[in-house]
Amino acid sequence: MKRHHSDPRLPRKLYIKTYGCQMNVYDSGRMADLLAPLGYAATDAPEGADLVILNTCHIREKAAEKVYSELGRLRILKEESAERGNQMLIAVAGCVAQAESEEMRRRAPVVDLIVGPQTYHRLPELVARAHRSTGAVLDTEFPAESKFDHLPDTQAVDGPSAFLSVQEGCDKFCTFCVVPYTRGSEFSRPAQAVLAEARRLVASGVREITLLGQNVNAYHGEGPEGRDWSLARLIYGLAEIDGLARIRYTTSHPRDMDDALIKAHGEVDALMPYLHLPVQSGSDTILKAMNRRHTADDYRHLIDRIRNARPDIAMSGDFIVGFPGESDLDFADTLKLVTDVTYASAFSFKYSARPGTPASTAGQQVPEAVKTDRLAALQQILDAQQVAFNHATVGCQAPVLFERIGRRQGQMVGRTPWLQAVYVEAGPEMLGQIAPVTLVGANAKSLTGTLASPAGETAHPTTVQVA
Ligand code: 5AD
Ligand code: SF4
Repeated sequence: MKRHHSDPRLPRKLYIKTYGCQMNVYDSGRMADLLAPLGYAATDAPEGADLVILNTCHIREKAAEKVYSELGRLRILKEESAERGNQMLIAVAGCVAQAESEEMRRRAPVVDLIVGPQTYHRLPELVARAHRSTGAVLDTEFPAESKFDHLPDTQAVDGPSAFLSVQEGCDKFCTFCVVPYTRGSEFSRPAQAVLAEARRLVASGVREITLLGQNVNAYHGEGPEGRDWSLARLIYGLAEIDGLARIRYTTSHPRDMDDALIKAHGEVDALMPYLHLPVQSGSDTILKAMNRRHTADDYRHLIDRIRNARPDIAMSGDFIVGFPGESDLDFADTLKLVTDVTYASAFSFKYSARPGTPASTAGQQVPEAVKTDRLAALQQILDAQQVAFNHATVGCQAPVLFERIGRRQGQMVGRTPWLQAVYVEAGPEMLGQIAPVTLVGANAKSLTGTLASPAGETAHPTTVQVA
């Protein structure tokens, strides 16, 4: 398996000391399994370990005191490790951890993380966070590039539309997702570096820039005056670049859609009316299990506010069907949300267990056949919404940015502000131009159009409801 980051010390050594009952022995085994994908392999002595877990038990007398004296011994080993340039993480798990957590933080600062019996499934997240707080990069056995965490790289200029990476990594820890482990914590490029790269792109003919990040609307890059810039601020800055006609960004988390960014959608002409805002599920139970930290209604209200700011915005999203524990009712809630929101396009996936993520070891995995049925039902609605959205724009005139020469002679391919692909009879001289096009035909994936005179009516597709 390809590693994200090479580290000669791998595999990392994990030492677990188990106190008490058979239940604790079982839990220790589970913790080792959960940590294996992060590169941890069991070792039988604490000396030289990268992670020591004391899996404690509260039943026996003086249990807590025993743990504290063990922590005293470990403190010395931890210091010796640090002198060799290694980092030893110390975790306390089990019932003593649960009962003593406040006291333990005070009495034993050597402890990096405390995890109670109810939260073992979050161990990979907690370990990753503890590594990060010391600046260490956590290596994992995840394939570095999965279809879920891959973003196109900032590219050599090829055509009038370019991607520009502004942010990497993610701190959200959705329980199905590998990105926080494989890509590390959120990092934003300084605003001036982004603006400078954007100016270079525009100088070489780019008319449209799509800002990229795994969680791009969490962008918080250093600004020219030292204060961080939000994504909204960055967009206002980019909009001032002469010749940059279109700005897009992807992909976003609902929790990071702040007021300023919503306002920018109403105010910045260059910010295109298309938003990829994944919700994953319409069930509050599943959203909670996914650690999304918002409800389906929070998302509905958010969409209302975005549409108030920019009524013609085309919504896009990501959905996962068959997340562990998803019932027929939970899935029905997802269909309901899709019907309420109405998407112009969307991506949907069957849940697939990614090793090392908390959801991968959850009980109640959904049978494959159920996932297949749910995906088909969801995609049927999403496809119908996409077709309806495309049809609703037929007859309108829209500015199209011509991005490439079509396969047929005399044909050019471009995009509307709503990211629809449009095939138009036009000459190659239109490459990189933005011209009004009358939209004349539509199917699921694209539109056809004819070059219009600049004076016609401009398209404003309204929300299309699909029964
Ligand atoms: N299973 C299925 N879909 C996933 N995604 C991410 N991880 C998983 C997984 N384990 C999907 C989410 C995300 C998109 C990029 O990939 O919908 O938004
Ligand atoms: Fe993964 Fe996106 Fe969740 Fe981050 S916000 S953990 S990238 S799904």
